[in-house]
Amino acid sequence: LKKVPLFESLSDKELEAVGRVVKIKSYPKNTILFSEGDESDSFYVICEGRVNVGINDEDGKEIILSRLGPNEYFGEMALMDGEPRSAFVMTRDPCKLMIIAKSDFKKLLSSDVMLNLLMELQRRLREANKKIESLALMDVYGRVARLLIQLAGTSEPGVQIREKLTHQEIASMVGASREMVSRVIKDLTSDGYISIRRKRITIHKSLPYSW
Ligand code: CMP
Repeated sequence: LKKVPLFESLSDKELEAVGRVVKIKSYPKNTILFSEGDESDSFYVICEGRVNVGINDEDGKEIILSRLGPNEYFGEMALMDGEPRSAFVMTRDPCKLMIIAKSDFKKLLSSDVMLNLLMELQRRLREANKKIESLALMDVYGRVARLLIQLAGTSEPGVQIREKLTHQEIASMVGASREMVSRVIKDLTSDGYISIRRKRITIHKSLPYSW
């Protein structure tokens, strides 16, 4: 719990009290923890693994809004505003999660914890604004380029993206069809911008945001 930035302001005694009320559970990869529109009763902190946060349309087409990893949290929105879950959350890896019941979560909302929640909300809103920008203003080449640069952590060429990605997953992250993403990846490969080995992408030349 000490490693979780949200709780950094809590004293050892307060952390011990939190420790007594959390449940720790492990989940396999690709488990839906809850769906958009569900009623809510829990708050989650990630100990190990990563999750995808996203929304679906009725045809099952999904868009990944964000990915969260160790020491990050989710599920605070519905607990705080009493509305249904704003998005689905699904494990992307095998995950170990801390689960805090709604009534216990509410007891933790000191002004320092609130301030941390607010700062994180701002960070997520900035990210969401970037996503709106790329969906509204960039073509799929630009969106894929931006995603690859983001995952590589740099726009410098010569960097391999550590995680393995499927075309379907890239498509869900950039809001495009898998077919379109496959075409973009093929073009980027044949133009020498990227290469792929065992599902890992290496960037060779600076990727432009538009073609
Ligand atoms: P809640 O609405 O309870 O359930 C879905 C959770 O996903 C939500 O709380 C947030 O914790 C998280 N979430 C929703 N939208 C985003 C987003 N755009 N970026 C990051 N996390 C989000």
